[in-house]
Amino acid sequence: MNKKHIQAIACLVGAVFVILGIILHFLVPSILHKKIMEALVLVNMSDSEVFSAWVEHPVPIYMKFYLFNVTNPQDILINSSKPTLQEMGPYTFREYRQKVDIQFSDDGETVSYKLHKRFDYLPNQSNGSLMDNVTVLNVPFMAMAMETEGKLNLAEMMILPQIIKIYKATPFVTKTVDELLFKGYKDNLIMYLESQSGKKILPNGTFGFFYERNDTYDDYSVSTGKKDLKSYLEIHKWNNKSSLGWWNSKYCNMINGTDGAGFSPFLKQNKKIYMFIDELCRSIYLDYEKIHYKSGIKIHRYVLSPSLFKSPDIKPENKCYCNKTKKCLKSGAFDISPCHKGTPVVLSLPHFYQGDDSYNNAVIGLNRSENRHRSILDLEPDVKKIPRNGISSYVDG
Ligand SMILES: *[C@@H]1O[C@H](CO)[C@@H](O)[C@H](O)[C@H]1NC(C)=O
Ligand SMILES: *[C@@H]1O[C@H](CO)[C@@H](O)[C@H](O)[C@H]1NC(C)=O
Ligand SMILES: *[C@@H]1O[C@H](CO)[C@@H](O)[C@H](O)[C@H]1NC(C)=O
Ligand SMILES: *[C@@H]1O[C@H](CO)[C@@H](O)[C@H](O)[C@H]1NC(C)=O
Ligand SMILES: *[C@@H]1O[C@H](CO)[C@@H](O)[C@H](O)[C@H]1NC(C)=O
Ligand SMILES: *[C@@H]1O[C@H](CO)[C@@H](O)[C@H](O)[C@H]1NC(C)=O
Ligand SMILES: *[C@@H]1O[C@H](CO)[C@@H](O)[C@H](O)[C@H]1NC(C)=O
Ligand SMILES: *[C@@H]1O[C@H](CO)[C@@H](O)[C@H](O)[C@H]1NC(C)=O
Ligand SMILES: *[C@@H]1O[C@H](CO)[C@@H](O)[C@H](O)[C@H]1NC(C)=O
Ligand SMILES: *[C@@H]1O[C@H](CO)[C@@H](O)[C@H](O)[C@H]1NC(C)=O
Ligand SMILES: *[C@@H]1O[C@H](CO)[C@@H](O)[C@H](O)[C@H]1NC(C)=O
Ligand SMILES: *[C@@H]1O[C@H](CO)[C@@H](O)[C@H](O)[C@H]1NC(C)=O
Repeated sequence: MNKKHIQAIACLVGAVFVILGIILHFLVPSILHKKIMEALVLVNMSDSEVFSAWVEHPVPIYMKFYLFNVTNPQDILINSSKPTLQEMGPYTFREYRQKVDIQFSDDGETVSYKLHKRFDYLPNQSNGSLMDNVTVLNVPFMAMAMETEGKLNLAEMMILPQIIKIYKATPFVTKTVDELLFKGYKDNLIMYLESQSGKKILPNGTFGFFYERNDTYDDYSVSTGKKDLKSYLEIHKWNNKSSLGWWNSKYCNMINGTDGAGFSPFLKQNKKIYMFIDELCRSIYLDYEKIHYKSGIKIHRYVLSPSLFKSPDIKPENKCYCNKTKKCLKSGAFDISPCHKGTPVVLSLPHFYQGDDSYNNAVIGLNRSENRHRSILDLEPDVKKIPRNGISSYVDG
């Protein structure tokens, strides 16, 4: 397997997710009419509709996963052929978000809480089963290969092939969808290495893209809007930190905007919308696109900014997301390993949408399309009639 292909496939690990697509296609509460602005401020009132809608998101959030089956693993390894990919899915999960342990600051300007996230599988809205077998790049194996590259002494290098053979470690593995996402799978080689070195490489020796991401509690502290509705729901702290710490500058480490489930009523047209998405390990922004109408209702459309995942050659401000000791990735791929305990996971938009052509050309079976792969957010600027629960939503996709 030549190096170029390894890189290309490593990036595909990222393509496994359409995280951005998923997250931004979810439903976003509309902006409320000016008249009820005061009612927006979060206060300690269990009978307030705004408050209860905030505590538990009234509209369902769906996460759709698409996985790419590598159909020619042997051919890649033996003949250095291009990987051929077959898209599988969607495997649809409902995400429940509930805020617990809610505490208002004494002045009522901030509120802190734990965000409980839980995912339930929805077989009826999925195409396939969690027991489907998918052949993918073996991420723990690649992690080890990258970690040990150039670090082994001669003796270690000589026994490595044997260890790999004994533990049946291969660059590709066939696992069920369940194992790849939430359940995780144990990797024998990693367990062996952990027992030898006494170092934890993966949590519980287990790898899954969403392993330990179900049934979690994250700490948040956000603005209630009491002082200034412009900063309504903006995050002050996430897990007790006011900046992220795993990137290389103050700018990249910023925790900006809201969690994407609600926005200030004072969003200006032509202005960016900021949000912090913990799965992406960073703050992102959307650009204003246009006004359009849906069932006669005026909608402002925002799109995920094409600048976000551009290489620093094109967008110098993205340089602080690169690892100083490695080369920056090309446009369209985003390395989130620093916030995944070093496991090499790279994100991309679906099908390397807006990515460098070399990624797309390195594999067979991807087909990017603006219609299917871009991420949009529709917000309703004026609500003529106040919806019953104070919040109405739009799904787009
Ligand atoms: C996935 O690819 C493997 C070969 O790596 C193949 O045997 C299997 O049939 C494919 N799965 C599906 C669902 O097509
Ligand atoms: C490798 O290439 C040769 C010649 O093109 C072909 O006959 C063989 O089937 C390929 N190997 C695999 C595992 O596909
Ligand atoms: C369901 O998945 C199969 C491949 O696994 C694909 O051929 C088919 O187009 C998918 N159907 C839908 C509706 O996405
Ligand atoms: C709301 O106020 C009541 C008493 O007025 C108090 O018992 C309750 O803990 C407060 N709730 C929150 C979330 O601060
Ligand atoms: C997530 O955890 C909940 C509660 O423990 C469980 O009911 C649910 O099936 C889990 N979801 C997945 C995808 O494992
Ligand atoms: C899923 O589909 C089955 C049969 O079509 C139906 O009985 C069931 O109620 C559906 N479940 C959900 C959660 O919609
Ligand atoms: C996946 O592979 C396992 C073991 O090879 C097999 O038992 C199972 O039936 C397969 N699942 C499907 C959906 O084909
Ligand atoms: C670790 O894996 C074992 C199964 O091999 C499981 O029983 C245990 O609950 C796991 N521990 C954690 C902390 O997930
Ligand atoms: C944040 O601080 C609170 C209170 O000191 C503590 O209970 C919680 O565990 C901390 N959360 C994290 C993720 O460190
Ligand atoms: C965070 O927001 C500020 C403006 O409030 C902006 O200047 C900065 O570029 C944003 N940072 C990121 C990483 O998006
Ligand atoms: C940069 O990459 C090196 C080598 O892979 C790694 O050891 C280091 O932890 C990385 N630095 C950051 C900040 O992720
Ligand atoms: C790519 O997708 C478009 C529709 O978006 C379709 O017309 C075209 O045939 C597809 N091309 C390939 C090679 O699958």
